[in-house]
Amino acid sequence: MHILGINAYHGNASAAIVSDGRLIAAVEEERFNRVKYAAGFPAQAIRYCLGEAGIKLEEVNHIAIPRNPWARIGTKLFYALRMPHFARERIKVLAKFTGIPEALARAFDLDPQRIRARFHRVEHHQAHLASTFFVSPFEQAAALSADGLGDFASTMWATGEGHRLRVHGAVAFPHSLGMYYTALTQYLGFWKFGDEYKVMGLAAYGEPAYLEEFRRIVRNTGRLGFRLGLEYFSHHHDGPDMTWRESDKTPELARMFSPYLEQRLGPTRRAGEPVEQRHRDAAATMQARLEEVLFDLLGELHRRTGQKAVCLAGGVAFNCVANGKIFERTPFEHVYVQPAAGDAGLAVGAAYYVYHQILNQPRVFVMEHAYWGPGFSGEHIRQALERSRVVGSGYEIAELPEEELARVAARHIADGKILGWFQGRAEWGPRALGNRSIVADPRRPEMKDILNRRIKHRETFRPFAPSILEEATGQYFERSYPSPFMTLTYPVRIEKRQEIPAPTHVDGTGRLQTVSRAVNPRYWRLIREFANLTGVPVVLNTSFNDNEPIVCRPEEAIDCFLRTKMDVLVLGNTIVRKPASAE
Ligand SMILES: [Fe+2]
Repeated sequence: MHILGINAYHGNASAAIVSDGRLIAAVEEERFNRVKYAAGFPAQAIRYCLGEAGIKLEEVNHIAIPRNPWARIGTKLFYALRMPHFARERIKVLAKFTGIPEALARAFDLDPQRIRARFHRVEHHQAHLASTFFVSPFEQAAALSADGLGDFASTMWATGEGHRLRVHGAVAFPHSLGMYYTALTQYLGFWKFGDEYKVMGLAAYGEPAYLEEFRRIVRNTGRLGFRLGLEYFSHHHDGPDMTWRESDKTPELARMFSPYLEQRLGPTRRAGEPVEQRHRDAAATMQARLEEVLFDLLGELHRRTGQKAVCLAGGVAFNCVANGKIFERTPFEHVYVQPAAGDAGLAVGAAYYVYHQILNQPRVFVMEHAYWGPGFSGEHIRQALERSRVVGSGYEIAELPEEELARVAARHIADGKILGWFQGRAEWGPRALGNRSIVADPRRPEMKDILNRRIKHRETFRPFAPSILEEATGQYFERSYPSPFMTLTYPVRIEKRQEIPAPTHVDGTGRLQTVSRAVNPRYWRLIREFANLTGVPVVLNTSFNDNEPIVCRPEEAIDCFLRTKMDVLVLGNTIVRKPASAE
């Protein structure tokens, strides 16, 4: 039985295919159309997923769409009457949703009659909850989904047991932790869709100096849940919807904070203006207040469900700084966050919701790795290199057996070279986890600046991440609970901070990826070889890209390698070194 999940007409458009309960493929449309966070209809992602499963669209049995126009219809109507402009926009989007069968038929040049699949609509947050619990290793767990807005809710909690999810409650629009974080991110001068990450990085440079004020911005309710101080916001007047540019499908969000917020916190930082201490402190306070509210929610959820494990999803679940503190600030002992915790993950979640909750099938699958995207053969890599200007331009190219490859590549890293590492199938979700990564020496304090200057061009306050051999985690970090998807941040042990300064953030923490030999043997071997040379079982890992979606095909990796000042490129078993003059 084949179930196709489609997140369409929404940021992070994506597709996933589940066959007989096992995930076969999952990918974001941005990896194909090369537009970051692309919204719109994910035709290429769907095509890829069907190809990986070896089936045609006509053979799909169920199609799962993570949106239900009937969910919270009362609240929707209430706001539609107050915000006619917003209502008009919603109707346009809804019209697109009801047209998904036609869009599919068009994309595949098929008579709509030939699509035999049953269509299912799954409420946004139920799809988020399904995306994490149903693929988690837990037989039972509490589950929490928190994001900006989906089907007019921002937060939902549930208990998962076996193949069932029982929803206990939700927080409805306009109250939203995701929108709170986005509004403050905008206030601090970061307006692009997905910029919340930057402010989370900035928070480490400040002090939570405005907590009293921020406790009025997000308020406790005395029950499970929270409320926004709406005087600080404008989304409940103007409409919160995401739009996207028709030209390139880049999602855009309208301003979400009110003039009152500026009165209280001072003038907005305009994009490009210097970041001052008050901005750093506002970022730190925003993060601290998010943590307070999140840990209250989780504490209460623990009390009510009595579960030891918790599964998280929704954009807020990308807050790895908060996630890393769950063990000390809540009674939960186990945490699972699926690599595509944000809206891309809805494609997987909707598909699994249909499989378990609707079709009542037992669980047979655990998502232990993130490598659900496209992979390419050695032959494809060879041809891509031959067509590029790498061949015949003085670049050293060699094809090496796996063990030697890891040794040679590790030697380059230890020598301070910047290495592009392209292996196997692409990662699902926004983190590069050793298959589409740029890898560098973590021991060099200057490496962060070098990477920024030569390749990444990011804000200087954003940290780089460490990948560590899973078995060495406790030697370097204050916790050793596995973080295979880079969704947890832990303090680096004080005595080790000098040893790995490049991926240690200013507050002494690291957003780590723990690498196990069983899950990614090639990447594990690379780090092992680096440890053999240097005594340090850690490398700096950043995504293989330069202000674009992570590279997907070898052609894009070669392009990025040639365009930037990367020194060495490893594609499968082939290693390419720039001539000394080009370095
Ligand atoms: Fe969402």
